[in-house]
Amino acid sequence: MTGWTPDEIPDLTGKTAIVTGANSGIGRPTALELARHGARVIVAARSPEKGEATVADILRAVPGGQVEYGRLDLADLASVRRFAEGVDRLDLLVNNAAIGMISRQETKDGFEMQFGTNHLGHFALTGLLLPLLLAAPAARVVNVSSDAHAMGRIDFGNLGLEHGYSRFGAYGRSKLANLLFTLELQRRAERAGTGLISVATHPGTTATNIVKLGPLQPLMGVFFKSAAAGAVPSLYAATSPDVHGGEFIGPKLKRLTPSERARSEADARRLWDVSTEMTGVRFDEIAYS
Ligand SMILES: NC(=O)c1ccc[n+]([C@@H]2O[C@H](COP(=O)([O-])OP(=O)(O)OC[C@H]3O[C@@H](n4cnc5c(N)ncnc54)[C@H](OP(=O)(O)O)[C@@H]3O)[C@@H](O)[C@H]2O)c1
Repeated sequence: MTGWTPDEIPDLTGKTAIVTGANSGIGRPTALELARHGARVIVAARSPEKGEATVADILRAVPGGQVEYGRLDLADLASVRRFAEGVDRLDLLVNNAAIGMISRQETKDGFEMQFGTNHLGHFALTGLLLPLLLAAPAARVVNVSSDAHAMGRIDFGNLGLEHGYSRFGAYGRSKLANLLFTLELQRRAERAGTGLISVATHPGTTATNIVKLGPLQPLMGVFFKSAAAGAVPSLYAATSPDVHGGEFIGPKLKRLTPSERARSEADARRLWDVSTEMTGVRFDEIAYS
């Protein structure tokens, strides 16, 4: 499967896709290729300036494409709600945005920033858009995780990480949460008899803003692959007929095995319950009865 390229994306005419963090890095070529293959694409970004500029760039590359900007700040649940209210239909949700390796900060709602943005923001977004996804014939949710999930641990008694915060630890925890969420969403969607597919990806080390190399930053493009190459797992996960729910797709489109912690059903269920409590977003349509 290593030879797959975005040229093989099927015709997406009639489908609506959302790509979070589409103004930068891996999200940008993800949105571009989905638009190139006929999807109506909503570029979800927190900065209107960057979001509108991305829409204009994509439309220059895909004249006549259907590309729109939607303002979304994943670190603010009110913004997530406003964004979701503006969406009218949805087939593909690519939860791509992330903040990484920062000093300890909090979201507008007081959650530790990396967990709040990368996991809770996307959890809330997916739950709020679930009715639209379930109304679509073959909807998919792609959560862009990372092999960094393997260094993550979730201490449910210290979700705020007020003690023992580390930039990498908090990032790894958020990416572990992405995987636990992906697998739990798949189990719930399946058990409820829906056709929704939930998949996770690891793009591989890619030259983007999230990578922090300190003084070596200018050399990033020499060592790491391009954003367009980093977008291939997301595009494959979002569109290939060979993808199955619950898969974790890595570089060269290999099926990766999530860490043991990421495969814990007990942790996935606990994270789901805690995330519901923290965001106030319920997934009633696929709740356990
Ligand atoms: N690059 C890698 O080597 C690598 C490896 C493994 C996994 N990943 C994953 O790949 C995904 C894409 O990251 P990237 O590498 O493309 O990095 P990036 O260029 O930094 O892109 C991250 C995107 O997320 C957006 N974002 C951050 N906080 C947000 C918020 N509160 N609300 C809405 N959007 C927000 C950023 O917007 P602004 O431009 O406004 O900041 C940006 O568009 C992430 O999930 C990352 O964890 C990347």
